Amino acid sequence: MNNFTFQNPTKLIFGKGQLDALPKEVEKYGKKILLVYGGGSIKKNGIYGNIMKKLSDINAEVFELSGVEPNPRISTVRKGVEICKKEGIEFLLAVGGGSTIDCTKAISAGAKTDVDMWDIVTKKAKATGGLPFGTVLTIAATGSEMNRGSVITNWETKEKHGWGSPYSWPKFSILDPEHTFSVPREQTVYGMVDIMSHVLEHYFHQETNTPIQDRFCESILKTVIETAPKLLDDPENYEYRETIMLSGTLALNDMLSMGLRGDWATHNLEHAASAVHDIPHGGGLAILFPNWMKHVLDDSNADRFKQLAVRVFNVKTSGKSDRQVALEGIEELRAFWNSIGAPSRLKEYSIDESSIQEMAEKTVIARPEYGNFKKLTKQDSVEILRASL
Ligand code: NZQ
Ligand code: ZN
Repeated sequence: MNNFTFQNPTKLIFGKGQLDALPKEVEKYGKKILLVYGGGSIKKNGIYGNIMKKLSDINAEVFELSGVEPNPRISTVRKGVEICKKEGIEFLLAVGGGSTIDCTKAISAGAKTDVDMWDIVTKKAKATGGLPFGTVLTIAATGSEMNRGSVITNWETKEKHGWGSPYSWPKFSILDPEHTFSVPREQTVYGMVDIMSHVLEHYFHQETNTPIQDRFCESILKTVIETAPKLLDDPENYEYRETIMLSGTLALNDMLSMGLRGDWATHNLEHAASAVHDIPHGGGLAILFPNWMKHVLDDSNADRFKQLAVRVFNVKTSGKSDRQVALEGIEELRAFWNSIGAPSRLKEYSIDESSIQEMAEKTVIARPEYGNFKKLTKQDSVEILRASL
């Protein structure tokens, strides 16, 4: 494995009733608060009311930025930055999923600079600071609650990019599995696909001697595969929600990337697809991941695919070549995602041949080659996207 330094400064506050910790945590940073949330699910399920009550108990002055879109937009980030600067906000509280948290990370950095946040998202400039922020997570998916990454979309230029900074770690994240009881079935499925995809992005790397990292990955994959159907049958089961919520955080809080560099080509492809078509992130990944696998599989790397097939999907090896075992593993992944209702074709989102070139162009907008397990070019993007139609 590679040398590495690991430090994750986010305080994770996990479990039933843990929202009680909110006032004490917020008070450390200030009382002028910008509450950031999405399209209103937190009002329907009561989380908003509970949070407002807790903030009023400490006499916090609360400003609000609502309507953060799934695939959050730079225009919404700019609105938040303006409120922070105008009102002298001291602390940001994101209540929602990856979109709300990512938007909050961008507002946090934008509030501390005169540079337009899009320049920071597109890496023309660097973040120079950040307002402190915390999160109350309401959907298990991205891991954004315990990492420093943020993904922002510019709808005018149809670009979606990930960025991050040393100032973009949440100070704390409160994860109560009960807060995810109301997540609709479709979003629950997308979340679980995203979690598995984060693990797979780590699993496909070029480093040697990573037995512990491999088995961390395999255990998360097996746990999600085992829990997903049970959760979909019983969406208010605390233990199933708890298992998936912890899986989501562990899949992308840097634990799995100790000593290795994951691939991330499929995320790049998906971000291009959702930049052009505004599709749900997990839905795009379910379509693209097995096709990325088939595209990059060759005799030099079949052993890694074989390991996945055998250890996670229990594929039998007797009388089969490594490549055959690898392909069976990929089919098992596709079959599992199909079985929980994830999409498998871009046409399910009305995407056809006509936008292949545009999406492929977006995959190489930041650099001519991408992916660490195998380097890919625009032509590879065209082929993977076409195979996904
Ligand atoms: O907007 P509201 O009304 O809150 O509804 C949301 C939204 O429609 C709903 N929802 C969330 N919690 C709910 C709920 N509905 C009912 N009850 C609840 N408890 O779910 C929908 C999706 O929410 P969103 O935040 O968009 O989902 P997710 O967490 O999957 O985030 C997706 C975004 O994160 C980015 C994706 O690209 C996408 O933009 N990612 C961020 C990463 C990161 N920061 O590390 C990594 C990921 O790979 C990913 O790229
Ligand atoms: Zn993801």
